[in-house]
Amino acid sequence: MSKTIQIHDLSFVPYIKKETILERVTEIGVALKEEFGDKKPVFLAILNGSFVFMSDLARACDFDHEVSFIKLTSYEGTTSTGKVTTQIGLQEDLTGRDVIIVEDIVDTGTTIYTFLPTLKESNPRSISVVTLLSKPTALKYPLKMDHIGFEIPNKFVVGYGLDYNGLGRNLDSIYQLKQ
Ligand code: IMP
Repeated sequence: MSKTIQIHDLSFVPYIKKETILERVTEIGVALKEEFGDKKPVFLAILNGSFVFMSDLARACDFDHEVSFIKLTSYEGTTSTGKVTTQIGLQEDLTGRDVIIVEDIVDTGTTIYTFLPTLKESNPRSISVVTLLSKPTALKYPLKMDHIGFEIPNKFVVGYGLDYNGLGRNLDSIYQLKQ
C-alpha cells in the first residue's frame, strides 16, 4: 500500500490492506454457508458504500443466493446527520425469505435501525445483519450484528466502497483519517 493519500481537503493513511479484507470476507462467506447454505437467502445491500463488499461477499458465498440493493443515506462529509433518507426502496417480495442486510460500515447504527421496521413489514422469515466494519463506540442503538468483518475505533475511514464526499470508493484497501 502506498503512503498518505489526499481526498478533497483531508489526508488518509493506510489502515486495513486488501489481502486482510479479502481473507475476512472469505471467512464470512464460509460462516454464511453453514447458516444459509440450503435456504436461498436474499442479500440486501445498502448503497452506495456496500457495493464493493457485496461484490466480493457474493463471490465468497458458494451457495444459491439472490442479491438486491436499496439506497439509504444518512451521512454528509465525515459525520452522520442522524436522519435517514430512502432514495431507492425495496423492490421485491421478501415474504418468507431469509434476508441478510449487507452494510459497509455500522457507525451510529441509525441507517439499519431506521430501516428495520420497513423491512419487517414485508414479513421475511429471518433478518440478519452483516457489516464489513463496525465502530462500537459510536453505536447509538441496540442493534444486533450477526457478522462483523472488523471492529474499528471511531475514526473516519475511506476505501473499498467507502467515500469521503463522493471520492475514495475505488481504493482497494481501507484508509483512516490522518491525525
Ligand atoms: P450509521 O447510520 O451512522 O450507522 O452510518 C452508516 C453509513 O454512514 C454507512 O453506510 C456509510 O455510508 C456512512 N459512514 C459511517 N462511517 C463512515 C466512515 O468512517 N467512512 C465513510 N462512510 C461512513
